[in-house]
Amino acid sequence: MGLSEHTLRCIGCDSRFDPKGVPSNFRCHCGELLEVEYPWSEGAPARQISLRPNANALRFLWQERRTSTLSADQSGVWRFRDLLPIVQDDQIVTLREGNTPLYEMPKCAAALGMNWLLAKHQGMNPTGSFKDTGMTAAISVAASSGFEWVGCASTGNTSAAMAAYAARAGLRALVLIPEGKIAWGKLSQSMDYGATTVQLRTDFDGCVQVLNEIVQRAPIYLLNSVNPYRLEGQKTPAFEMLEQMEWQVPHHIIVPGGNLANCSALGKGFAEMKHLGFIDHVPKISVIQASGANPFYTCINMYGGRALDAVTADTRATAIRIGNPASWKKAVSVITRPDYEGWCEQVSELEIALAKAEIGAEGIGCEPASAVTLAGLKKFLADGRIQEDETVILLLTGHTLKDAEYTIDYHRGVLFEDAELTSSEKALLASKTKGRAEPIILDPQVDKVLRVLDAEMGKGTRELQPA
Ligand code: F0G
Repeated sequence: MGLSEHTLRCIGCDSRFDPKGVPSNFRCHCGELLEVEYPWSEGAPARQISLRPNANALRFLWQERRTSTLSADQSGVWRFRDLLPIVQDDQIVTLREGNTPLYEMPKCAAALGMNWLLAKHQGMNPTGSFKDTGMTAAISVAASSGFEWVGCASTGNTSAAMAAYAARAGLRALVLIPEGKIAWGKLSQSMDYGATTVQLRTDFDGCVQVLNEIVQRAPIYLLNSVNPYRLEGQKTPAFEMLEQMEWQVPHHIIVPGGNLANCSALGKGFAEMKHLGFIDHVPKISVIQASGANPFYTCINMYGGRALDAVTADTRATAIRIGNPASWKKAVSVITRPDYEGWCEQVSELEIALAKAEIGAEGIGCEPASAVTLAGLKKFLADGRIQEDETVILLLTGHTLKDAEYTIDYHRGVLFEDAELTSSEKALLASKTKGRAEPIILDPQVDKVLRVLDAEMGKGTRELQPA
């Protein structure tokens, strides 16, 4: 087997599949998920260890590629293609994804009493979410394998990414989304990029079930995150963060948890960095869920990762409105791996909204699902699991414009109009009016605008207070 070849290994029974003979639902006969294994991977048969890539040479090469004009080199995923050799260079389908900023969050850090706080903004990808890093990888494989159709069930971001990359590759795309429960921005992207968009009268988990049957009966390449090639692309932000940190390993990475592929992919990425000698230890990876969509929280904290009870999910953070996450076993092995030992926390709708406003006030912004990370960090600081002087990177997974309606509802003060809040939540929300920025409608008269300005100047800047 050469350096550019790979197999697909079952995470349950260790069976190995040739990529050409992989089942259409990407599940082993034992029912478990597959992951991509290279000759140099940890646990790969011993005779292949001599094919191990050289960390020092790769660090240099990856930097050098940043100045290249080749499209593969300009991609923040394929720049690292030495560690995801899944297609030939001329089969790569890219929109120049990745290379996303690692922002400092000084206002949030100060409000939390931290020295500094960082956010890796994956919403700064071509279609506005972290899904692009995985989609470039999996669509490249789909196109090179001769498929004409690709399909996914989605809460909106996967479908936006799939539709865009399918269009670039000249493939047809079938999108299944829950009717009425995804943000308009995401729905519009799927239509704009020309996908066949079907809104099913069910939730995300129902859409997944339907799609799983469809791929057994029609020649459609499955692009949900059970597709292990998606995770190969999604592991690369781990490499990029380490590069951006000048190879200093942060103490903590905090990610939102929905279908749990992102946490699994980043776990794989950091583990590969350690295995190949880029770093000598890995950061702690923790997952945050919305309390209305918290099956993984229960799985980790009540069952020690041994079982997962599916729930009927409900949260305004529609991206993570998922009750039966496909990648939960992969995520358990990341969270409970002795060198990661992360946690899973849950946060309320109010905590999400307040955290989102605070991230917005940094001039960064994100979609509600991404804001669970800051809300979760507050809990970890409060109970001492994270110390104020530790280095924390929040994974912001989606752009603020993905769900503009949510933001407008929050700032107009109507987001919680029909919600059942406890009295302490009501008091907390009332105390946060200063952080809200409701639009003011006026006649076009200079004096009136100046009066607003006067009042605002009296108030000082929009302040952040810890929740
Ligand atoms: N954040 C955003 C913005 C998302 O769109 C998703 C998932 C997640 C976090 C959770 O990531 O599933 O890997 O744990 N969105 C899906 C979709 C599932 O269809 O777009 P995960």
